Amino acid sequence: MSKSVSTMVGPQLLSEGRLPRDIFWSQEIYQLELERIFARAWVFIAHESQLPHTGSFLTTRIGEDEVIVVRNRDGRVGAFLNSCPHRGNRVCSAEVGVARGFVCNYHGWSFGLDGSLRGMHESGSYDREPGFDRSRLGLTPVAQVEGYKGLLFATFDPSAPALTEFLGDFTFYLDVMLDNDPGGTEFAGGCISSILGCNWKIAAENFAGDALHAGWTHASGAEAMLGGPVATLGDEANESYHVNTNGHCWEFNLDGVGNAATLGDKRIMNYLREQRGAFEARLGATRAKMVGSVSSANVFPNFSFLPGQNTFRTWQPLGPHKTELRTWVLVNCNAPQEVKDAWRKGAMLTFSPSGVFEMDDGENWEGSTHSNRGFVTRQQPLHYGLGLASRVDHPELPGNVYRGQINDANQRAFYHQWSKMMSSTDWAELLDKGPHDDTDR
Ligand code: FES
Ligand code: FE
Repeated sequence: MSKSVSTMVGPQLLSEGRLPRDIFWSQEIYQLELERIFARAWVFIAHESQLPHTGSFLTTRIGEDEVIVVRNRDGRVGAFLNSCPHRGNRVCSAEVGVARGFVCNYHGWSFGLDGSLRGMHESGSYDREPGFDRSRLGLTPVAQVEGYKGLLFATFDPSAPALTEFLGDFTFYLDVMLDNDPGGTEFAGGCISSILGCNWKIAAENFAGDALHAGWTHASGAEAMLGGPVATLGDEANESYHVNTNGHCWEFNLDGVGNAATLGDKRIMNYLREQRGAFEARLGATRAKMVGSVSSANVFPNFSFLPGQNTFRTWQPLGPHKTELRTWVLVNCNAPQEVKDAWRKGAMLTFSPSGVFEMDDGENWEGSTHSNRGFVTRQQPLHYGLGLASRVDHPELPGNVYRGQINDANQRAFYHQWSKMMSSTDWAELLDKGPHDDTDR
């Protein structure tokens, strides 16, 4: 790592709410992200409902490392590098399916659901080779796989803390989506994939807390589809907040209950109204207001969702200027089928590659990425200074809590966590030790 890069990504990354543009353009910084962020953080890999049977599998990426996620014969989910230990070919080229094992196309090595090497074409030749040890030639496993209420995460780092420690206080907020009903959740329908010509962080920080863009960027889409503004945003006078912990972020407005969820679909709005009492009994009055309320969140580093629209997505990096977006729709298992269908269709109308709002965002993010190709442009720091010193203590909300949805507090928290992971290899320094201010960022 060059000296200028090590200085830039360190604790001084954010100075008085200013951020250097190189982090969106530099190939050297990107390679460091793959090593320090994606090879160490807990990264979302699947929802349990995508792997219902023994042998159910899907392929995805953690950073640029391709992995197979598969339900084993013992019922647990494992994850392995999708690369043959012989000459490196992919051993699975399907995106999703059910299999008894995986066979490499190149020279016919075969692997069990647990990743172990089972057989080889011309196996006799290997078996005659002194010292040949099949047990050491299985697919490389990801170091740890853990679940939280239906969501499965993985990390390549054997020393990473437990998933619940990594998520920290954010589980309090995640339960709004994952545990508002005793039946749990599932992904409805399949996955939609699209490619964006942007840096992955610009998308992640947008979902972490950029409520500011919604009323402007999406104004014409909202006017056409809703006949009015996209949602009511809460300023400092309202019960609206940026909250974050360990770089995981959520912005929301407690006054905007059920505000235009999936374009105000009546079946969804009726379901939310009918279930209100049950949500309150399960989550308490404050968090119940967040169920179905249009807001946005990002689990660090690259797993985002929009409560209300119920779109869940990963921003998978494919270089500093290219990102694959994969999206799913989360619903309560116990919701009526017509409500699940309405949520899935609503998400398609709004946040899919042809959705009214997704297209607006993609164009902006590509512009925010590619303007940095200019040398002089790249020297101009970006402004992330809204809401400095707006932290408050809230009797019910854990983590770092900031007033108002119109705030850059969550983006600063996102880049603060990014900076910590980029500059330190000691997990003891990487997680929040209690509420902290961000006036110094
Ligand atoms: Fe897989 Fe040779 S590369 S069997
Ligand atoms: Fe948007």
